Amino acid sequence: MALRRFDLEAGGDTFAFKPETEEKIAFWRGKYPAEKQRSAVIPLLWLAQKDNDGWLSEPAMREVADRLEMPYIRVYEVATFYTMFRLQPVGKYHIQLCGTTPCQLRGAESLKDVCKKEIGNPMYVTDDGRLSWEEVECLGACVNAPMVQINDDYYEDLTEDSFQKIIGKLKNGVEAQAGPQVDRINSAPEGGTATLTDPALFDGSRNEVSRLPSLVEDKEADAPDASSSGKPEESAPTNTKREVPEKSNTGKTTLISNKEKEELAGERPETVEVAAEEQDDLKRIKGIGPKNEGALNELGIFTFKQIAAWTPENVDWVEDYMSFPGRIEREDWIGQAKTLAEGGETEFSKRVDAGDVPSSQDDED
Ligand code: FES
Repeated sequence: MALRRFDLEAGGDTFAFKPETEEKIAFWRGKYPAEKQRSAVIPLLWLAQKDNDGWLSEPAMREVADRLEMPYIRVYEVATFYTMFRLQPVGKYHIQLCGTTPCQLRGAESLKDVCKKEIGNPMYVTDDGRLSWEEVECLGACVNAPMVQINDDYYEDLTEDSFQKIIGKLKNGVEAQAGPQVDRINSAPEGGTATLTDPALFDGSRNEVSRLPSLVEDKEADAPDASSSGKPEESAPTNTKREVPEKSNTGKTTLISNKEKEELAGERPETVEVAAEEQDDLKRIKGIGPKNEGALNELGIFTFKQIAAWTPENVDWVEDYMSFPGRIEREDWIGQAKTLAEGGETEFSKRVDAGDVPSSQDDED
């Protein structure tokens, strides 16, 4: 880290924010309550630095302290701690050159030589007032090492040659293109993307495969029907869906894969016939949204009473089937169901009934 000296003389006796900066000051101050206004010290110092030709004079710091009703020393401590604040005059284009290990290993030393040759020693301002430079610690762009920051922009993947050209442009008052100075976008591979190039990865066509393998099929109509296909049940692949004998009173048939049926832990809850008008809104149970309610209905579960009567083995089976181990107990579905089955209310069911949970809670996965 370069030695930082505070230039007490160069700043004169006065400083004033530019009129157009007042709105920004109000914005930053507005982020903090009246008794915490000093929390805005960094943004105000930053604005003061911008209004003071890129550095902080003593009057500028005092102005910030007065605005925030802070002791001067507190503002001084902040300004001298952060290297983003300059304590002596800088050029119109001030270069912060990263000299930390990744940049150093990738050629920062040669960039330093360019600065010394083209500008002079650190913090020296060229006679035309255009350029100055200093060495700083990592600027967080190591993947594009070596790099420099010039005013507010990063110039990355530099070589001695490309850096020299940038400085040459700035010397002549010509803006130089910021960003990587090689053929890459941000920190993507040089020459273009080399992996994940299949357009199908980004056109949404792969969304289908993101389904968990043990979830109930959304579209029963699309599911293969072993009995109607005439194929013997044994011939169905073990990872495809087929119908199991139990049917719910919706007339729909529950679809479970052979593998799931064989491996599910616990015991399947009893399926009952429930007239449509006697079915409960299971979404009044916290943890059951439209998707889970649909899945439960397909299993023949329609009422709070049914859920309230689940045994631990039933819970194991449903959790295994719906692929969310531990959730039924964690969310206390059975306790909620008992309360609701007896005509009571829960905090969540009250919110559902009041319309505060429009979809009766989305399913969480
Ligand atoms: S080491 Fe230079 S940006 Fe991190």
